[in-house]
Amino acid sequence: MDGQSHDHRHGGTPKTAIIGGGVIGLSIGWRLAQAGCDVDIFERGEAGKGASWAAAGMLAAGVETEPGELGLHALNFASQKAWPAFAAELEKASGHQVDLRSEGTLMVALNRDDAAQLRYTYDFQKAHGIDLDWLTGAQARQREPFLHPNLAGAVFCAGDHQVENRKLVPALRAAFLAAGGKLHEHTAVAAVTTAHGKITGLTIGDRQVAADVVVLAAGAWSGEIAGLPPSARPPIRPIKGQMLALRMNLAEPLLRHVVWTPRVYMVPRHDGRLIVGATTEERGFDTNLTAGGIYSLLEGAWRSLPGVEELPIDEMWVGFRPGSRDDAPIIGSGEIDGLIYATGHHRNGILLTPVTADAVSRYIRTGEMDEVARPFAIDRFAATSKKAAREKA
Ligand code: FAD
Ligand code: GLY
Repeated sequence: MDGQSHDHRHGGTPKTAIIGGGVIGLSIGWRLAQAGCDVDIFERGEAGKGASWAAAGMLAAGVETEPGELGLHALNFASQKAWPAFAAELEKASGHQVDLRSEGTLMVALNRDDAAQLRYTYDFQKAHGIDLDWLTGAQARQREPFLHPNLAGAVFCAGDHQVENRKLVPALRAAFLAAGGKLHEHTAVAAVTTAHGKITGLTIGDRQVAADVVVLAAGAWSGEIAGLPPSARPPIRPIKGQMLALRMNLAEPLLRHVVWTPRVYMVPRHDGRLIVGATTEERGFDTNLTAGGIYSLLEGAWRSLPGVEELPIDEMWVGFRPGSRDDAPIIGSGEIDGLIYATGHHRNGILLTPVTADAVSRYIRTGEMDEVARPFAIDRFAATSKKAAREKA
């Protein structure tokens, strides 16, 4: 199969079933329903209570650019650019606010070692065209007066913003329903069904549901859906993240920008919550909050923003990022005709929502994959495995 150019229409708009009602499934569903397609989302719990609920909502295409992930750069930036229009359209369609904020993001260094590391990151990101300004500690404190007085330096990224992901989820849900989509909550998909290498539908309990196209958008659980040969199962694993929220005094909030420190990031919300995240752990689906995890978050926050010591703790939680083998998303089709992957968004699924929704919904309707999303087909893993086997032989 060509992977990124295929026609699923078979003479009309296909009947589409989406597995998973997180931001990825809901946003694809919304786009399809808007275009008049027959679309059902099957969500085993309540829509949007997976990673989409657990996230910090940063739209961090700039500061999360790292060496080794440059293939993702164009996709991340395309989605970041799409966010303002996407948010405005969604707010209008749903009647819900999503609190897209545009203060920009600060990265801070607490000592000379941090400053050297930050300078390296700054040079690397700047060389890749990211709009960044180097600030002295004093300049950073002009923007955020409660940061530690001994900051060794900082970087301001004007283009990296945030959205309140816990408002995004109900907004997408409402827009999807208003556009005519059908949402089936508390409905777990056990398996996809195929015949002669082609999708025929889903198994839900003892029921068969017919579909021309199935979108696999089950987040960190995407590798667990039965009915696929091993080669068609997406290589997805859960990457555990522990997070917490402190409650700031709204009259005098400790922070107004998103701030990245060497150990944690902090995300202030309009309602006074200060999100502090996040651990990155290979622990399977372990839902435990741990003393070590929470300690490292609080200590990391306190080192750069000492005033957090006085703040009440509002909430602590665990979420599972859907991580693929190369930490990039899996978007588009593979060897099973009619099965479309929209998973593996790892640390940037909120950021990548608009670009994924547009690319996948257009692909289902037209058979053409947007150029920016073409490198993310699942067949890149088959190519790697074959190359490794050839090199071994
Ligand atoms: P999910 O939101 O997990 O949705 C998948 C859904 O599929 C779930 O609701 C689940 O119940 C359902 N499902 C699973 N199996 C089945 C089944 N068999 N049948 C039916 N339904 C099923 N991204 C950013 O862009 N910015 C951030 O700041 C950010 N911070 C993060 C912080 C943390 C701690 C974590 C954990 C993630 C963060 N992310 C962030 C990543 C982002 O949250 C994810 O990439 C994104 O939410 C993935 O969306 P999704 O819809 O694919 O997955
Ligand atoms: N993007 C932030 C996180 O995944 O923790």
